[in-house]
Amino acid sequence: MNRYLLPASLVGSVVGGFVLLKDSMHGGLCSSKAVLQGKTAIVTGANTGLGKETALDLARRGARVILACRDEAACEDAAREIRGETLNPRVVARRLDLASLESVRDFAAHINQDEENVHILVNNAAVMRCPHSTTADGFEMQFGVNHLGHFLLTNLLLDKLRASAPSRVVTVSSLAQVAACLDLSDLNWERRKYDPKLAYCDSKLANVLFSLELSKRLQGTGVTANSVNPGVCNTSLGRHTGMHKSAFSSSVLGPFFWLVVRSPRLGAQPSINLAVSEELRDVSGRYFDGMRQVDPGTKANDEELARQLWEASARLVCLRDHDGSGGGSGKGGAGEASECHKGQGAGAPERSAVEDGA
Ligand SMILES: NC(=O)c1ccc[n+]([C@@H]2O[C@H](COP(=O)([O-])OP(=O)(O)OC[C@H]3O[C@@H](n4cnc5c(N)ncnc54)[C@H](OP(=O)(O)O)[C@@H]3O)[C@@H](O)[C@H]2O)c1
Repeated sequence: MNRYLLPASLVGSVVGGFVLLKDSMHGGLCSSKAVLQGKTAIVTGANTGLGKETALDLARRGARVILACRDEAACEDAAREIRGETLNPRVVARRLDLASLESVRDFAAHINQDEENVHILVNNAAVMRCPHSTTADGFEMQFGVNHLGHFLLTNLLLDKLRASAPSRVVTVSSLAQVAACLDLSDLNWERRKYDPKLAYCDSKLANVLFSLELSKRLQGTGVTANSVNPGVCNTSLGRHTGMHKSAFSSSVLGPFFWLVVRSPRLGAQPSINLAVSEELRDVSGRYFDGMRQVDPGTKANDEELARQLWEASARLVCLRDHDGSGGGSGKGGAGEASECHKGQGAGAPERSAVEDGA
């Protein structure tokens, strides 16, 4: 017998077993059988990756699903694919560029005008470790898209979410949040040397803190807010990283990565779980690592930091009392946003929600 045969078959069995176990090791599929007929869900960044898989699952459950993406053609392609796969005709594509506050306001105005209800909002879209660039309003791109865009979007949809209660806001964060520093005095990276990795971590900590403060402001309204780390997944998120670009890592290391990273379908399960699971109906202000509720760490639990970030964000996006509200200020508004600070290089005139019809 060939002396390599036994070790080779052993290695083959271990790898084969690992492949079979891979799905369950990564948390498996969301076990909820919830049906979403009559419900409306919005998923940002739904043309690809985890967002597309989340939208597909919600559509399969019968929801009206609004794919909110910056690239209209890619968005329509994804919506068509999901309609075809689920035979659910209530899947639509809408333009939303989170790197433009005007686009966020336009999108929210259309939703508030056209949609009777919004029961599920999944704040999923993100950019990771991109070279330094700024949004249309002059904010550092990762903070601007991953946090500020979703902060404004959620606030503009709050009245609709409250009126549709029970409803849920799911914000997709990352384990990267534990490495964040989040300098409130320099949110826009104007005083420090730009660090794309740290900027991503900061934006993901901002996601958790936003969700924490939002849940406090929404107490008693029937709207829950939770954040989640989906785990490492095989998507295009790493498009700006050296690893993604290197031929060596994609060809030689690729198969090993495949063994340890989740497929987009598996990576979407934690968001789906938070959006639909019956047993999580009243759970709010929590952080999930995959399917498990965990302690997010000291910074992410800092309620004072969360409050200060909320106030700073409200000023940066020029949030107004009548923009919907996070509650907790009498009129239930983001009334603390009396001043409005634009990001560096921003020249756009301040707009009001009344002008925008929000
Ligand atoms: N993949 C992972 O390993 C991992 C790990 C931890 C956390 N996460 C989190 O999971 C979420 C989903 O990421 P993913 O892995 O699915 O990444 P992805 O495949 O790169 O998808 C990101 C989505 O965000 C969209 N997006 C980017 N900038 C936008 C903007 N300005 N306006 C609107 N949409 C914008 C992208 O649109 P385009 O296609 O047009 O670029 C895309 O649809 C993110 O919040 C990410 O931080 C992912």
